[in-house]
Amino acid sequence: MATILAIETSCDETAVAIVKNRQVLSSIITSQISVHQEYGGVVPEVASRQHLETINQALAQAIESAQLDWGAIDGVAATCAPGLVGALLVGLTAAKTLAIVHQKPFIGVHHLEGHIYASYLSEPFLEPPFLCLLVSGGHTSLIYVKDCGVYEILGQTHDDAAGEAFDKVARLLGLGYPGGPAIDLLAAVGNPQAFPLPEGNISLPGGGYHPYDSSFSGLKTAVLRLVQKLQQRSGNQELPVCDIAASFQASVARSLTRRAIACALDYGLNTIAVGGGVAANSGLRKHLLAAASAHNLRVLFPPLKFCTDNAAMIGTAGADHLNRGHTSPLTLGVQSRLAITDVMQLYQDLRTTYSSS
Ligand SMILES: Nc1ncnc2c1ncn2[C@@H]1O[C@H](COP(=O)(O)OP(=O)(O)OP(=O)(O)O)[C@@H](O)[C@H]1O
Ligand SMILES: [Mg+2]
Repeated sequence: MATILAIETSCDETAVAIVKNRQVLSSIITSQISVHQEYGGVVPEVASRQHLETINQALAQAIESAQLDWGAIDGVAATCAPGLVGALLVGLTAAKTLAIVHQKPFIGVHHLEGHIYASYLSEPFLEPPFLCLLVSGGHTSLIYVKDCGVYEILGQTHDDAAGEAFDKVARLLGLGYPGGPAIDLLAAVGNPQAFPLPEGNISLPGGGYHPYDSSFSGLKTAVLRLVQKLQQRSGNQELPVCDIAASFQASVARSLTRRAIACALDYGLNTIAVGGGVAANSGLRKHLLAAASAHNLRVLFPPLKFCTDNAAMIGTAGADHLNRGHTSPLTLGVQSRLAITDVMQLYQDLRTTYSSS
């Protein structure tokens, strides 16, 4: 039963949490969205500076709110890959420093493994094997979760990630950044059948479509063409933004649901755990739950606040690794890219820097 202090700074959230295995004792998430909004997306250098300004306060708040002292903490975890290098460095350096000062083991955590582990925060008794539908700002994958640190990618996007598609479509509808929550809100009052939009199938060389891989750039272009056509037709009249949002969201939900269900059935996995920011989407939640129940499959979504980036999911993954004796050397660096299948590289040096006893 490891109690972990965890730090997440891979993109635009400065987050610190303290978790006891799968129980969240405190979670502080300081979002930088308002700072990046004027640029329409995340500016890496601005993100790093913001993390530097916020990290100490977030650490103090997380420790105070958990009402623990350092004696009760078994290890310090931080996201080390993938993500923005400057942003990752802030969290990783803070975590290593705390590990050295307080003589605790240090655990580097893969950001996407964190998103997978977010489902344990809604279902602590979940155990592999299961299928993870990972749908975030930068990734859209179907991952066979075999064990802690042992993953196989069964399907992925060939271009834009689902969250990226939400952000791009929102921008072209003039809805600002981040786009997912704005589209979700408008879609709730729009007609999802108003406009037929493509589902982004990937053709196979011998004919037919790839059952699990997806594409979202064609869908984004189809929305652009639709907007242009409607603007030409209606002149100065307002666009039916709610209907466009609802039709777009329904297409994404259909595409993700179809692939996740097919994959779970083909691989005999009866649980689909969804992770990443798009797991918060109400259209996807509704669509996937309905389809899964028709096939007797279980679907798990993380609590809403743990869909997008947070440190509780990093701590939960870190705790599982520490419980298995996986610790990272203090020489571990940050990496902008690292495949989820290479997670165990972070623990290759299995000598604990400090004894955890
Ligand atoms: N309710 C929602 N509906 C659809 N998309 C959403 C919703 N809420 C957030 N998102 C999308 O989730 C994304 C952010 O999720 P997340 O924080 O997991 O991504 P990231 O950390 O930037 O990317 P990655 O985890 O791949 O590195 C954004 O693209 C955002 O638009
Ligand atoms: Mg993320």
